[in-house]
Amino acid sequence: MARLVVVSNRVGVPDKGARAGGLEVAIRPTLKRRGGVWFGWSGRVAENKPGPAKTVEHDNVSYVTIDLRKDDYQEFYNGFANRVLWPILHYRLDLAEFTRRDLSGYFRVNEFFASNLEKLLRPDDVVWVHDYHLIPFAKALRERGHKNKIGFFLHIPFPPPEILTALPNHERLIPSLGNYDLIGFQTETDADNFSRYLANECGLKRVDDDSFTFDDRVVRVGVFPVGVETEAFGQLARRAIESKFVREVLGSLFGRAMIIGVDRLDYSKGIPERMHAFERFLTSFPGWRGGVTYLQITPHSRSGIPEYAQIARMLGEAVGRINGTFGEASWTPVRYINKSHSRTALAGLYRAARAALVTPLRDGMNLVAKEYVAAQNAEDPGVLILSRFAGAARECAAALLVNPYDPEGVANAIDRALAMRLEERRQRHAVNYKALLRNDLSVWAERFLGTLGHPNLSLLSVEKLAARVQFLHDEINRLEADMAQKR
Ligand code: UDP
Ligand code: G6P
Repeated sequence: MARLVVVSNRVGVPDKGARAGGLEVAIRPTLKRRGGVWFGWSGRVAENKPGPAKTVEHDNVSYVTIDLRKDDYQEFYNGFANRVLWPILHYRLDLAEFTRRDLSGYFRVNEFFASNLEKLLRPDDVVWVHDYHLIPFAKALRERGHKNKIGFFLHIPFPPPEILTALPNHERLIPSLGNYDLIGFQTETDADNFSRYLANECGLKRVDDDSFTFDDRVVRVGVFPVGVETEAFGQLARRAIESKFVREVLGSLFGRAMIIGVDRLDYSKGIPERMHAFERFLTSFPGWRGGVTYLQITPHSRSGIPEYAQIARMLGEAVGRINGTFGEASWTPVRYINKSHSRTALAGLYRAARAALVTPLRDGMNLVAKEYVAAQNAEDPGVLILSRFAGAARECAAALLVNPYDPEGVANAIDRALAMRLEERRQRHAVNYKALLRNDLSVWAERFLGTLGHPNLSLLSVEKLAARVQFLHDEINRLEADMAQKR
């Protein structure tokens, strides 16, 4: 098997403690299972010129990281990646702050990454590049003569061309994706938006159901929704709910129902809107006052960016207002925590929570939603309240789907979740859980890498095959149930 080289801005070097971020959570087990190299930014900013890449070996993975210069960090990470691409790809043109300087910093860092990676790249390595920081990365490698198979996966949404074309210089950036062999998206909507962009802006048409021709290269496009380690996460949650930490949290609630929210402090997650909805819930359903505690875990993220500092202030104020208005000496409605928690702690808290509020304004997938489902006790599960604008809403279609811009709708959903009868909770959970079992994290990685490695394998036929296998499974289950009933 060819060596796998994963490239992403954020690298999950072991033993660095708990940190939030779906990309890292998805890649870590994939690389652990297959072995290989994980290359990217160290998370450090060098005072002067960055030194050579550093390598940490762990199990059979080499973690190779480089530092960024101060101006690179500012222009590439805080600038173009997170103040232009992040908001625009999340449909937030109003928040984008474009400068030509940041754009050139972005291209410069992609070149810098490529010039460092090529020192260790072998001709038969399979290269898997992740996320919006590295759109032109394959171009930088190809220009250096590398002919490796290179795949790209976008963890975040891809907006319609009507939005994307507001990005200055999009015509230089987006077509550089044509240097990849396979481009993966989270949902059909993202892949369709990309196809429309290629058709409208580049005049490119599909050569067949899943490929486009860019100059002389055939590039394949597919949908690969990221999953979680469904069964393993469930087992972790079963153990974690017995831990001292979770027992202490539960003890401190004195029997009150707990609602949980877990998000990086990011405007895309819709946390102020959610607070507003919770406030509405307490106003409209006074019977729940004193009987429910909302725990919101929100580690700080990208704090050097003004929009992130602003949302931090807004949230602090909203929580203060709710607790001030509705709280009692013996009850705090919202517990708002900025500390990052370990996955074990989160798994136990998810299992202990009667409902989860996952209401992003726009999200590529949202792994927290899937983890919440995986962590539940199937006999007595909690209810997932999920934004229809999260990629996870496709698979978790049996959640209570809400519009995060509609505080009354979300308030009603909270009441409905807390009051939901056991039978309905079980049914909804079973449907969601089954979908997550079918598309486990390993399916995501194996499907992507399988498709990248076998250019003749039709993506559609893989999907049709999976649907056929699922149909046969369902038929067998049905026959078994019939037979059991007749016995
Ligand atoms: N997470 C964590 N500790 C925290 C908060 C979050 O480990 O304190 C994890 C969470 O369990 C999930 C990931 O970070 O696996 C967040 O992924 P998601 O797709 O929900 O959002 P992202 O942060 O990638 O936008
Ligand atoms: C999202 C992005 C990732 C990013 C993560 C954490 O999951 O898709 O690319 O790594 O957020 O953000 P950060 O800026 O801390 O890497």
